[in-house]
Amino acid sequence: MVEILPSLLAADFARLGEQIDQVTHAGVNFLHFDVMDGHFVPNISFGLPVLESLRKRTRLALDVHLMFSDADTFAPRFVAAGADCVSVHQEACPHIDRTLRLIQSEGARAGVVLNPATPLATLEHVLPIVDYVLLMSVNPGYGGQKFIPYVLDKVRALRDWRDRLGLSFAIEIDGGISVDNVGKVAEAGVTWVVAGSSVFGAPDPGRAASEMKQAALDALARRA
Ligand code: DX5
Ligand code: ZN
Repeated sequence: MVEILPSLLAADFARLGEQIDQVTHAGVNFLHFDVMDGHFVPNISFGLPVLESLRKRTRLALDVHLMFSDADTFAPRFVAAGADCVSVHQEACPHIDRTLRLIQSEGARAGVVLNPATPLATLEHVLPIVDYVLLMSVNPGYGGQKFIPYVLDKVRALRDWRDRLGLSFAIEIDGGISVDNVGKVAEAGVTWVVAGSSVFGAPDPGRAASEMKQAALDALARRA
């Protein structure tokens, strides 16, 4: 089942509630929430108080992507603030085994994120415990960047590896996804598709999210 996760980074922050309603009416089940610390990535976005407000406003699952140097400390605080899923970067977490287990013990799904150039092999020992793996298809820090094509090979390799191990974690992708390439990423094995500018940059975000989902489902149906 393919899910489109609109990324609030591309929303109009002065109208966040309204923008969330637009994609909610279109039937999305998740919202993607990018937290940046100005250190691990060269940008800042929003944080705990905004997540707390959104938690009161929406019943959609909140998928928090922590682009944080100190994710080990902050991850549990985002669960407490209302996140349903929290992902942390392999590159930023020296204690990632502990962090992933902590996220789960606090009651959320735990994901691990890889930058485009970080090898899949670095995940070997945590794959059996993660709920999802997020593969970045741009270098994190900004919305609206161009999709890096070699990440498609990473997605296929991760799907094959997961299937060989008999595991069932979800594969998420983030960065540069639009209606034009969503079919390819779904065919490669992605089930959670993050989309920022292609959803909230469109005149009708709800419609854009629905069209992306349909494009993914059409690509999968053609292959079947
Ligand atoms: C980038 C963020 C993304 C961003 C994607 O660091 O992790 O979630 O919102 O934006 P688009 O879909 O515009 O590439
Ligand atoms: Zn993200």
